[in-house]
Amino acid sequence: MNKYCGSVRILHWVMMVLFAMIFVIGFVMVEFKDTKPWKLFSLHKSTGVLVFILVLLRIMLRFTTTAPLYPNHFPSINIILAKIVHGLLYIMMLFMPISGYALSNIHGFEVSFYGLTLPTLFPANPEWETYIDDAHSCGAWIFLALLAIHIAGVVFHHVREEDVLSRMT
Ligand code: HEM
Ligand code: HEM
Repeated sequence: MNKYCGSVRILHWVMMVLFAMIFVIGFVMVEFKDTKPWKLFSLHKSTGVLVFILVLLRIMLRFTTTAPLYPNHFPSINIILAKIVHGLLYIMMLFMPISGYALSNIHGFEVSFYGLTLPTLFPANPEWETYIDDAHSCGAWIFLALLAIHIAGVVFHHVREEDVLSRMT
């Protein structure tokens, strides 16, 4: 069957929904920071940690299951580009939760996972606050740009009637 295995497919779409939630909450909570939306902060962080656990599971599955081969007629440049974008997406899926966790700890805040307090892994450090803050915010935009390229790639193949969507559905 020319598809990713069922668990990889389910994780792909579940994580897409979780990322959409995290992005929307992230931008809204920062925009309305003056109103102290701490519940949104907490939901953003908890869901970010959840996604981190899921991405580790996803990477493990990626190495233990077989990915479907691309059809022979696919130009190798397209395959290389797709693989580069996928690789960068995995890097951003790891970078965003780690930088977010570091950002909270460096600001002197604990991270809780839906009410369960998690250990402080990074020491509070005012000197690093702006760097990590910028890294998390810029990372969010880089991630969004990669997602735009990823979706454009899928649409590109779809309009040329080269079915890639069915590999992940
Ligand atoms: C998993 C993927 C994550 C994504 C895609 C993400 C995305 C974002 C976005 C888009 C913002 C708003 C940036 C801005 O407008 O400046 C933001 C802010 C923030 N995120 Fe995340 N985030 C993630 C995970 C986390 C995690 C795991 C934590 C903490 C445990 C976290 C902590 C924060 C904090 C504290 C802010 C507010 C920064 C500020 O006050 O300027 N994030 N995040
Ligand atoms: C947060 C959003 C998303 C993330 C993080 C993401 C990430 C990824 C990654 C890393 C892969 C490579 C899988 C692998 O080889 O291990 C992949 C494959 C795929 N994604 Fe997404 N994706 C997202 C959203 C979407 C959306 C919205 C679509 C549909 C338009 C889509 C369609 C696909 C398809 C069809 C594949 C298989 C591509 C192929 O076999 O070359 N993804 N995705």
